[in-house]
Amino acid sequence: QNLLATWTISERGLLGLKGDPGERGEPGLNGTKGSPGRDGLVGPPGVTGIKGQKGEQGPIGECLPGAKGDVGIEGAKGEPGTKGDSGGAPGENAELIRSAFSVGLFPSKSFPPPGLPVKFDKVFYNVEGHWDPELNKFNVTLSGVYLFTYHITVRNRPLRAALVVNGVRKLRTRDSLYGQDIDQASNLVLLQLSEGDQVWLETLRDWNGVYSSSEDDSTFSGFLLYPDPKQEITV
Ligand SMILES: *[C@@H]1O[C@H](CO)[C@@H](O)[C@H](O)[C@H]1NC(C)=O
Ligand SMILES: *[C@@H]1O[C@H](CO)[C@@H](O)[C@H](O)[C@H]1NC(C)=O
Repeated sequence: QNLLATWTISERGLLGLKGDPGERGEPGLNGTKGSPGRDGLVGPPGVTGIKGQKGEQGPIGECLPGAKGDVGIEGAKGEPGTKGDSGGAPGENAELIRSAFSVGLFPSKSFPPPGLPVKFDKVFYNVEGHWDPELNKFNVTLSGVYLFTYHITVRNRPLRAALVVNGVRKLRTRDSLYGQDIDQASNLVLLQLSEGDQVWLETLRDWNGVYSSSEDDSTFSGFLLYPDPKQEITV
């Protein structure tokens, strides 16, 4: 300090000695605000974010019917089917629901004794055997509705005849022809009969003019018209 002061004196002559430095001044006012800087450069891409949560199910979409398709091509012929099962059990023998007879009188048997079954032993039909040629009666073996008819040639003697069922005269016929004229007495009836019933024809008292010759037949016929429906047999 002293050395510097000494040198200064020698350059400028004799001057007063330099005083001590002043006190430090107050800081200056802040400068005005600068203009905005330029935009910075684009930064590097950020890190990939976390996967978001699953969204809610959307509403049902609208569905319209599509257009009708074309007719398909005809398929190939199928394989033949397997053979069917055999049919049911054989049906009831039709023979069993048949019953009929048709019988006549031989000429030698004209004027049969009255009060007894007329002996018709000229058989036209008795395949089922329900006409009993020994008893001269028709045996009912199937319950049902039967038709009976007789056509009796009458000659020389008058006739009173009756269709008898189990001893009861059900149907009567009368013809009072006399002399050599020939006539025919007949009748027909339907009867509901049961198995075991017996039917025959007989003449009454002396009116037994049942006649037969090579030119004249006297016949008695009957058959099952409607069999009764099958019923359970209870013992
Ligand atoms: C000047 O600037 C300084 C630093 O930014 C700040 O602290 C101070 O308050 C300012 N003074 C005035 C008068 O604005
Ligand atoms: C007819 O019925 C009677 C009485 O049941 C029996 O005796 C007779 O043998 C039967 N006749 C025939 C041909 O079945």
